Amino acid sequence: MSVQGEIRKVTTHRLSEMKLRGEKIAMLTAYDYSMAQLVDEAGVDVILVGDSASNVMAGHATTLPITLNEMIYHGASVVRAVKRALVVVDLPFGTYQGNSREALNSAIRIMKETAADAVKLEGGEEVIKSVKRILSAGIPVMGHLGLMPQSIHKFGTYTVRAKEEAEAEKLINDARLLEEAGCFALVLEKIPARLGEEVAKELKIPVIGIGAGSGVDGQVLVLHDMLGITQQFSPRFLRRYHNLAVEVKGAVGNYIADVKSEDFPNEKEQY
Ligand code: KIV
Repeated sequence: MSVQGEIRKVTTHRLSEMKLRGEKIAMLTAYDYSMAQLVDEAGVDVILVGDSASNVMAGHATTLPITLNEMIYHGASVVRAVKRALVVVDLPFGTYQGNSREALNSAIRIMKETAADAVKLEGGEEVIKSVKRILSAGIPVMGHLGLMPQSIHKFGTYTVRAKEEAEAEKLINDARLLEEAGCFALVLEKIPARLGEEVAKELKIPVIGIGAGSGVDGQVLVLHDMLGITQQFSPRFLRRYHNLAVEVKGAVGNYIADVKSEDFPNEKEQY
């Protein structure tokens, strides 16, 4: 809140100030209006409309199938709800790799059609031309290194990345390239904590981790995982803050029982 009680929107500039004063950044995903409103009102700093929507919302096995139009639908729904958090929308697989003109068009569509604040994309050196071209249009870009789910078919597994020196060196180099290009922040996914801390210390931009240890500048989790809505997914880095699946099933079970027993609706619940 500002002095007048007005909500002060989180900006990329505010995130770098947070890093400077050592204040950790709290980021969560959201994909729809109702959840985004709750997450924003709770005070999260950054809302990521992640391409994890492909898994969580659409039930796909990977993030690869989700389309640009679908990401725009999710992004616009979230932006309509958010008053304070910075909203970042993922560029989905196949919309920015290999062709910087296409990358720019995809990012422009996201910014125009969702009114989000920034885009995120996966990769370092391989996508640096795309990153630079998007940035040249004044669109803030968040990088994403380490485990990159859009490259699952190259990696073969979702295990911890950059344990070996060569991969760790490439990650550090990619992180430098993304910072030099002008990215405002970087996500590091599922890498050794030591490496996460090293990158966060070296870079001036905020480094936000998911399974990258406590030495980074902020944390991100998938909302449905931390709320315990998704049940099958239990990586070590995930802390569950609720067991919503049990509560939802319990409430739905009570509703079914009330309908069947004709307890619902009662006299006060009808016209
Ligand atoms: O799509 C997503 O949810 C993400 C986070 C895991 C960082 O990229």
